[in-house]
Amino acid sequence: MIVLQLVDSEIVVQVLDRYSDIEGHYDVLPERCTGSPHAGNKPPSGVLICKHRMDRMALSRRTVLKASGVAGFAFAADTSVWQASAQAPLGEPGSWPWVRDLFDLSPDTVHMSTMLIASHPRPVREAIEEHRSGLDADPVRYLERNNNRLTDAARQAAGDYLGVHPSHIALTDSTTMGIGLVYTGLKLQPGDEVLTTEHDYYVTHESLRLMAERTGAGVRKITLFEDPAETSEDEIVSRIVDAVRPATRLVALTWVHSSTGLKMPVSAIAAALREVNAERDAEDQVLLGIDAVHGFGVEDTNFLQLGCDFFMAGCHKWLFGPRGTGIVAISERGLDAVRPTIPSFTDDAVFSAWLEGADEPPGGNTGPRMTPGGFKPFEHRWALSEAFALHRQIGRARVAERTHFLATSLKDALAEHPGVTLRTPRDSRFSAGIVSFDVDGVHPNAVVSRLRQHEIIASVAPYAVPHVRLTPSIRNNEQDIERVAAALRSIA
Ligand SMILES: Cc1ncc(COP(=O)(O)O)c(C=O)c1O
Repeated sequence: MIVLQLVDSEIVVQVLDRYSDIEGHYDVLPERCTGSPHAGNKPPSGVLICKHRMDRMALSRRTVLKASGVAGFAFAADTSVWQASAQAPLGEPGSWPWVRDLFDLSPDTVHMSTMLIASHPRPVREAIEEHRSGLDADPVRYLERNNNRLTDAARQAAGDYLGVHPSHIALTDSTTMGIGLVYTGLKLQPGDEVLTTEHDYYVTHESLRLMAERTGAGVRKITLFEDPAETSEDEIVSRIVDAVRPATRLVALTWVHSSTGLKMPVSAIAAALREVNAERDAEDQVLLGIDAVHGFGVEDTNFLQLGCDFFMAGCHKWLFGPRGTGIVAISERGLDAVRPTIPSFTDDAVFSAWLEGADEPPGGNTGPRMTPGGFKPFEHRWALSEAFALHRQIGRARVAERTHFLATSLKDALAEHPGVTLRTPRDSRFSAGIVSFDVDGVHPNAVVSRLRQHEIIASVAPYAVPHVRLTPSIRNNEQDIERVAAALRSIA
């Protein structure tokens, strides 16, 4: 909670929780005091309590001054600075036009590329800018003042979002970094094996190949279905369970396939593996690892509901977090099954053990211990909390519903087109925001180029069998879907 107190010609900002980098005294510019019910330029005293996280995010120095000027210090106790800000976006806060307006995307283009790299929404942009200017002005002292607090806040925000204790969260730079660290760090040996599928992405396959080289453990790939658009939960779960052998120590899957857009029934797979594990000793358990990036920031499902042991995701796609940020959530037994690769800067016990000349640090593995150290583009990592806050402010259920609504509308439009073959299941239970398809007689690369001529940004799935991908997200709207449908009529 933040308290703004207006005392004579100063705003005193007092922060009652961890967002305290804005704490301090701010001058009020007399010319901004218009609207004050008091005579002259002297503002009255009063208190503004900001109740919502968005209010906190909007409280840059600039915004405080702007807000105070706009509102003329006539704040009611429940008036939000966000609403008072001269920079307040269009529409009701939380409405879809308001969400769309948070992005600086070129307005004439239909951006359906969320699955690749995020555009930063305003609160994330502003937080990055604030930290960047702080670092540029005084790198060492700004870092000293803020690093522990803001890194902990980012880990806490990720933990809150996923429903896990922050000590089970590692902060990474990307999905790729998380998967690489976890899979190559597995404590496996010759004779053990990892089960994965033909449908997973390069990052999973390559990390497992490197793991196999390092540990001598094997990797086996199976096929889960012939046609993703026609598969069922039973087919997927039974093919996985049937393929698990006594030597299997990990099943490595992807929540939402980036080739076909199929969303895997992860909770049902986890439940089936729990039954397998019920018959096994602790050291023989089968763990479940998930490349979660295309479900994270879309689905209103947390880590426990999914039931996996390793959840790796970049925050710079559907979550609209800062580019170059990612997380790994790890279960208790997952922490025991993996060792860190890159020295941590966020686990004091490891550093103290080094200072004391100990052979190894005390205590078990943790999320902070799994977090690769080294100096970072800190302004991005520290702004991660704002992305989680924005999702919470919009409402996770609403984000999921809206993404599914837009993806379903797009699939409906594509399905009407005789020249288009949809690869993604129509059923929302088996799909998220990725919509994959092919156009008869036109290579996916050519479809994507032609869509670009219509100012529509799509992508080609970088797999042995390529498809065209469009990925509507909460920053898109119904008109975008209509534009895509119209463009495809001229292509297919
Ligand atoms: C399934 C999947 N995993 C991982 C990645 C890479 O994600 P990141 O950029 O976060 O490493 C991608 C594509 O960008 C992907 O489609």
